Amino acid sequence: MTKELSVYLGTSNKNKVFWNPKQEKNPHLITVGGSGSGKTETLKAIMLELKKSKINSIILDFHNDFKVFADNLVQIDKATLHPLEVQINEKPLDVCYKVSKMIASVFSLGDVQEAIIREAIKAFYLKSGIKDIKKANNGDIELLPFSFFRDIIFDTPIKNQGVPKLLAKISVLFDVDLFMEADGTSLSLDTIIKNLSVIELLDFPTDEVKALVADLLLKKLVNFLYIKGKCEDYWLYIIIDEAHRMMYPGSPVELLLRESRKYGVGIILASQRPTDFSETILANAGTIIAFQESLDKDAVFLSKQLRIPKVNFQKLKTAGLGYYLFSSKDETEQIQITPVKDRKEYKEIVKNFDEEERADYFNKELRRIKKEKDKYKALEVSNQDQENEIKKLEKEISKLNAEIERKEYSIKKTEAESKEKQKEIIKLSHENDKLDEKLGMRDKKIEKLEKK
Ligand SMILES: Nc1ncnc2c1ncn2[C@@H]1O[C@H](COP(=O)(O)OP(=O)(O)OP(=O)(O)O)[C@@H](O)[C@H]1O
Ligand SMILES: [Mg+2]
Repeated sequence: MTKELSVYLGTSNKNKVFWNPKQEKNPHLITVGGSGSGKTETLKAIMLELKKSKINSIILDFHNDFKVFADNLVQIDKATLHPLEVQINEKPLDVCYKVSKMIASVFSLGDVQEAIIREAIKAFYLKSGIKDIKKANNGDIELLPFSFFRDIIFDTPIKNQGVPKLLAKISVLFDVDLFMEADGTSLSLDTIIKNLSVIELLDFPTDEVKALVADLLLKKLVNFLYIKGKCEDYWLYIIIDEAHRMMYPGSPVELLLRESRKYGVGIILASQRPTDFSETILANAGTIIAFQESLDKDAVFLSKQLRIPKVNFQKLKTAGLGYYLFSSKDETEQIQITPVKDRKEYKEIVKNFDEEERADYFNKELRRIKKEKDKYKALEVSNQDQENEIKKLEKEISKLNAEIERKEYSIKKTEAESKEKQKEIIKLSHENDKLDEKLGMRDKKIEKLEKK
């Protein structure tokens, strides 16, 4: 991202307001406000500006609100994603804690239920042949398909009254092809990050599954950033509307808010209730835009954060009218966000939108990955065939060797026998000679006698 990135937000007392992330203490922006107050529209406006400035962005789209902006429409339900995937440099035990926490949070599980999930994940890793779950993956981990996890969790030896409820709650996971068709390998972030990527989450069965898919993707992203390394320039924005689904202590979103700046990544979040964010998160956000909040409790919370009276938030009646606070400025000021329809490039974007074409990059990548997997599988099969052929030949060779040994033995035996026989012949011929000698002597005697 260029240092001059300047995002046009709207007007304040007829002056144009620009958001310059580099000037703030971090690149993150949080927007809050009641239903219909203008949050989604604000995100759209920011996306349009990021697109114009050619900054990469990823949006987790729960409602099909942002499709039209996509350069890369990620129809993620067509892919596969192993929820228990251990990425390079990740430790299986860490994944075990993170994923059990995610599942517990999205399905509102209790501590015991979370512990059952945790133990089942450990058992799954063991069954996958991982000997040391505290050792980081250096590339040799091969997981069993996720369907094995279902068998493990459904056969949990733990007897607790929470178990049937737990199984009922999470069983939806085992109806999701994205997970169930996943083997050890999984989609890569290079397939996802391309200009403006919209990740379509609408087609998953429940809100919980959508949140879990989003969480898993963010977890992948965090790891991807760690491997990619630190970066001074902001090169990527992650945008999450209705972020309340994904805010819990230790969530990937929280981690990203704390750490992604160092990796050149900004986060933009929208949520109806300011209390979805902890005070620390709000106090540390580089930029806050707050719209109408009628709930007293929420207005009080905002009043504290933006340092203006709570009635200011309660009195707001127009969509897109709110207050903004930049960390670089002391004063909170009013703002009217300029909606996308009033921005020049929007009409062009809508006119040129072609869903199939926008989904082409991701779907092509999926097809390429599938082809490679098939090739690999075919190679494995032909390797197996060759191994079988070799085994067959080895068997034949060992049979022949045994035959040779048997023959050699019988030759040796015959040789030994013939030696014995020769010895006997020699002995007999000796005896013969002796007899001949004796006969000679007798003949001589007879001769002598006859002469006499
Ligand atoms: N800045 C704006 N200028 C003009 N109209 C706006 C503006 N922002 C929002 N609106 C109008 O108000 C409607 C509701 O806004 P939006 O969908 O952004 O609300 P929201 O805060 O996201 O609500 P929810 O929490 O229910 O998702 C929009 O359909 C749009 O017509
Ligand atoms: Mg909205």
